[in-house]
Amino acid sequence: MKILIINGVNLNMLGKREVDVYGTESLLDLENKLNALNFEANLEFFQSNSEEEIINKIHTHKDEKYDFGIFNFGAHTHTNISIRDAILSVGFPFYEIHISNVFAREEFRHTSFFSDIAKGSIVGFGFDGYEFALTKIMRGKNGS
Ligand code: DQA
Repeated sequence: MKILIINGVNLNMLGKREVDVYGTESLLDLENKLNALNFEANLEFFQSNSEEEIINKIHTHKDEKYDFGIFNFGAHTHTNISIRDAILSVGFPFYEIHISNVFAREEFRHTSFFSDIAKGSIVGFGFDGYEFALTKIMRGKNGS
C-alpha cells in the first residue's frame, strides 16, 4: 500500500497557529503519530504552501501509482479549482480531511471544491481524522 498524505497551505504552522482551533501539536507530531501506527503501508508525507508544488505532486500519481491519498488542502479547499482539476486529471482516489469542524466556522469554510470528488470527508476530529482515514484505507485492503 502506497499512501500520499498532503497537507497544504499553512499546515506547516500546526502547533503555532490558532492553537484553540488546531491544537498544540505540530505537523511532525502528526507524521510521527501516523508512522507509529505501524500499518503495512508506505506513507509519504508532503506539505507545501505552493499551489504549483501541490499540483505537480498530485500529477506524479501517473507514475507513482499511489493506492490512495489523504488530503487536507487548508484554505485552498474553499477556493482552488486547479488542485481539483489536477486530482481529476490523474484519477487520484482520496479522503478529504479537516482538523477543525469547518461547518461550525465562517460560512466561506462551508464550501469545498473537493468533497464531491472525495471518497469521503472527515472534519472536526483533529489529528484523529487522519488516523481514521488511514485505518479505513488499510481495512479496505483486507476486506474487513
Ligand atoms: C483546515 C480548515 C480550513 O478552513 C483552513 O483554512 C485550514 C485548515 C482544517 O484542517 O481544519 O487551513 O483545512
